[in-house]
Amino acid sequence: DWKIEQVLEEEMEKIRQLVGPTEHVICALSGGVDSTVAATLVHQVLGDRLHCIFVDNGLLRYKEAERVMLTFTQHLHLPVTKVDDSARMLQRLKGVKDPEAKRKAIGSGFIDVFREYAEELQRTIGVQPRFLVQGTLYPDVIESCPPPGSGRKHSHTIKSHHNVGGLPKDLKFQLVEPLRELFKDEVRALGRLPQLNVPEAFIKRHPFPGPGLAVRVLGDVTEGNALEVLRQVDEVYIQCIRDFGLYDEIWQAFAVFLPVRAVGVQGDQRTHSHVVALRAVTSADGMTADWYPFEPAFLQAASTKICNTVRSVNRVVYDVTSKPPGTIEWE
Ligand code: XMP
Repeated sequence: DWKIEQVLEEEMEKIRQLVGPTEHVICALSGGVDSTVAATLVHQVLGDRLHCIFVDNGLLRYKEAERVMLTFTQHLHLPVTKVDDSARMLQRLKGVKDPEAKRKAIGSGFIDVFREYAEELQRTIGVQPRFLVQGTLYPDVIESCPPPGSGRKHSHTIKSHHNVGGLPKDLKFQLVEPLRELFKDEVRALGRLPQLNVPEAFIKRHPFPGPGLAVRVLGDVTEGNALEVLRQVDEVYIQCIRDFGLYDEIWQAFAVFLPVRAVGVQGDQRTHSHVVALRAVTSADGMTADWYPFEPAFLQAASTKICNTVRSVNRVVYDVTSKPPGTIEWE
């Protein structure tokens, strides 16, 4: 692991140089391994000069905010403030159906929260942070803006990842991106180093996209109780994967809420209810992926458990698309 220790040393030194001895830094924690490792690393260098926020944008998974806040505060001792922006975000997303428009709305909502939090730091403790930590990885960088001559076919933006670029000019934050040259497995190795000591359960968490469940509810996320249904289905599905001992074999697994209804029969009632798709993929870095070949016994157990637990779902389908041609997320 000497190589990854060296990365740690180099990145810590870069932060020391960039931020200097007195400036303060803001970091938005997403609850994922990337921003957590980035923040923990920066915390080692800057201590109290790091100010983290965790934004509940209303697009998180079941009990996610409570669960990750516990790890941040009790295990990692990160200085973190939780901001609840869910009502405002859902208002913003009302009626927005286009995937890119959703991503843009979520990205700009995020920036507003940063701005307000920075202003609040100034008001309350008289500190004006000039730097912003982001857990941007190398694949995020090249997917958002493929470098010339990178050999990638896409010269246009595939998806606007809300955590790359896109900061308005008037927002005077300089970016601190200690993971910008790393792939996911390298970030995990970094987090495992005793200097950072990020808990193993956290290191092994499946990636979760910045726009959260919004890219897993197709169409308008505020319609009906889609988010609530999706949270319940996702929780049951992931628990099944854990029960079968498969969690660590899979890069990412999640459920998708489809904006259609199907006919079913539950009890002796005809129903016209929700359809959910299950997705699970293996991947090395998220840039390409293969759909995961579950045993029929697993699919049967998951499907039964989902329909029995979440009564408003009467149909479960499994996504057998690799990347390419699909992306990992559905939007
Ligand atoms: P796609 O769907 O493009 O996703 O194949 C590749 C990986 O990136 C995650 N993802 C995101 N992560 N902000 C993020 O931080 C985003 O906007 C975003 N969109 C996708 C996705 O979950 C997968 O791991």
